[in-house]
Amino acid sequence: MSTPAGGSARGFTMPRPAAGQETSAGATAVTGAGRGQAGTVGQRTGPDPGEPGPAPPLPADATLQLAADEQARLIARILADLDRDFIGLAPVKDRVREIGALLLIDRLRGRYGLSSSRPSLHMCFTGSPGTGKTTLAARMGWLLRELGYLRKGQLVSVTRDDLVGQYVGHTAPKTKEVLKRAMGGVLLIDEAYYLYRPDNERDYGQESIEILLQFMEAHRDDLVVILAGYRPRMDVFFQSNPGMASRIGHHIDFPDFSIDELMQIAELMLEREEYELAPAARDAFREYIGLRMSQPRFANARSMRNAIDRLRLRQARRLVAAGGRIGRADLTALTAADVRGSRVFSDTLATPPVPPPPPGVPPVPVPQTAVP
Ligand SMILES: Nc1ncnc2c1ncn2[C@@H]1O[C@H](COP(=O)(O)OP(=O)(O)OP(=O)(O)O)[C@@H](O)[C@H]1O
Ligand SMILES: [Mg+2]
Repeated sequence: MSTPAGGSARGFTMPRPAAGQETSAGATAVTGAGRGQAGTVGQRTGPDPGEPGPAPPLPADATLQLAADEQARLIARILADLDRDFIGLAPVKDRVREIGALLLIDRLRGRYGLSSSRPSLHMCFTGSPGTGKTTLAARMGWLLRELGYLRKGQLVSVTRDDLVGQYVGHTAPKTKEVLKRAMGGVLLIDEAYYLYRPDNERDYGQESIEILLQFMEAHRDDLVVILAGYRPRMDVFFQSNPGMASRIGHHIDFPDFSIDELMQIAELMLEREEYELAPAARDAFREYIGLRMSQPRFANARSMRNAIDRLRLRQARRLVAAGGRIGRADLTALTAADVRGSRVFSDTLATPPVPPPPPGVPPVPVPQTAVP
């Protein structure tokens, strides 16, 4: 499975830069002896033959007005968009804020002629299914392009099968072809630990890892690699692959969502799709979330997305069965009955909670329920 997601992921609209903000370059208000020296704070990678050369370094006593800096404003806008589009995920947003601040400060250091080497932007995203790792990787590509750190910012999302071949000589061309597609953007490797199979000596995963490492080093200015997966397995993977661990500059943990956050995520998704939960339907949906969270294969925000897809099906079936005249409000309203039509409710009724066993008696195993 390989999905090039050109800067967008389902459920999200990538904010477009406003006119005149297509590039990250911008003048910064300068005070002190350096006043009057026009300079660009942010510059896209790669020289532009039409542009004047870099401005001379500012004198040591010059000061810069952060609030007037175009790149600082751009970062603030990007972070505000992130806050609006991603519910919860406070630690993730904090890390993105830190990365944005670092990139900004590096650019400002460059204006004084201070060394400002490009920081390592390879990352590792860990968290349970459906916590937003792929969606944030797409956003990260967009963000780094806006800030001038990536040429294109596209997301190429792959798993082991896209990188590793089954026969001698197949792995290198496969991995290189994926890397070629990802150049200028973000390569997201989902469940990256499957690349490494210590139990199988003839496994070609190691070959793929070696090539990835070479590219991560040699093309660090033109490629951001994000490894994604579940934390404990990723830790084991890094222990066995110290070369990979040392090239990852940012480890970001995606926490599970609370019921309140899942409710907000569902409402955000419904708003985007122009549906509304009637008040009784909201209560029912909250109840639904509580039940669904304790069932097998619960996948955080993705389970909300799936629940909404099925909710729309039940609404459509109800409206078509009712026949007669139909208006706009009928088409947007989701009722409590639509929500309660979910198997999550009936499965719960069918399997009443098991009473606790008397002391000393082992608990009876609970049968696994199917995905609702
Ligand atoms: N914080 C959030 N706020 C709103 N919607 C979110 C958030 N996180 C994820 N989503 C939505 O949930 C769905 C699943 O997210 P995503 O695919 O990014 O999860 P993931 O962590 O990559 O899952 P997996 O580990 O299974 O690959 C997407 O539709 C995404 O838009
Ligand atoms: Mg994912």
